[in-house]
Amino acid sequence: MTAVPELGLRNDVYRRPLATALDRLGLREGWTCVDVGAGGGDVTVALAELVGRDGRIYAVDSDPASRDVVAAAAAAASVAQVFAITQAAEDLTLPEPVDLAFCRFLLMHVVDPLVVVRRMGRAVRPGGWVVCQEPVTTAGRVGGNPLSMPGARHPDVGALLPRLALDAGLEMVDAWAEAPAGAGPGPVSAYLASLTGVDPGDDPIVLPPLVTVVARRPAETGD
Ligand SMILES: C[S@@+](CC[C@H](N)C(=O)[O-])C[C@H]1O[C@@H](n2cnc3c(N)ncnc32)[C@H](O)[C@@H]1O
Repeated sequence: MTAVPELGLRNDVYRRPLATALDRLGLREGWTCVDVGAGGGDVTVALAELVGRDGRIYAVDSDPASRDVVAAAAAAASVAQVFAITQAAEDLTLPEPVDLAFCRFLLMHVVDPLVVVRRMGRAVRPGGWVVCQEPVTTAGRVGGNPLSMPGARHPDVGALLPRLALDAGLEMVDAWAEAPAGAGPGPVSAYLASLTGVDPGDDPIVLPPLVTVVARRPAETGD
């Protein structure tokens, strides 16, 4: 399995789904990638570690505060070639076609997820990869009861990902779901408490499964 660096992801309960996705993808040294909706840069740093000094990672986020946070995370990890850009995913425009366009926990927040997936497809070279990881929030459980996330525009967008990829003109390579689970004190319970502000105590927890879609831009396209 691909060695996903601990740094920046050590306390990330969704690290294992990320490792699975990167392993399935066969990410290699020298790739150029974009992490769309990069946030604090956890995924950006992991990608940067894997592509090495000959690779390049663009970290795109509409929140200008993300740029400094990602730059600091990249500097702390001593990874080169990270370019943080303030840009809406709907306007995604990069200086070069990339090998991989990646997003995690982004499409659930945007107005129209299909617009963003299309834009990601256009950002990669012909034959390049598009990988999205999004939750099915209501499939999460605490004490057997479904979770909800009223603040998100599309809390269950993960359930629609395969269709979105096809509607965006991409070729589906693989799709699956993974969910961290636990009971009692531990990282899963701490993560849920940080998300909801409520301590789940000893209740059994299944965090929202992340659906991963691995898709490719067709090798020959006209646009
Ligand atoms: C929940 S965070 C996810 C961060 C990161 N992808 C991760 O998995 O750790 C969502 C991020 O998407 C960004 N975002 C939301 N809407 C966006 C848009 N339309 N274009 C670009 N970024 C957006 C937010 O600013 C935030 O940083």
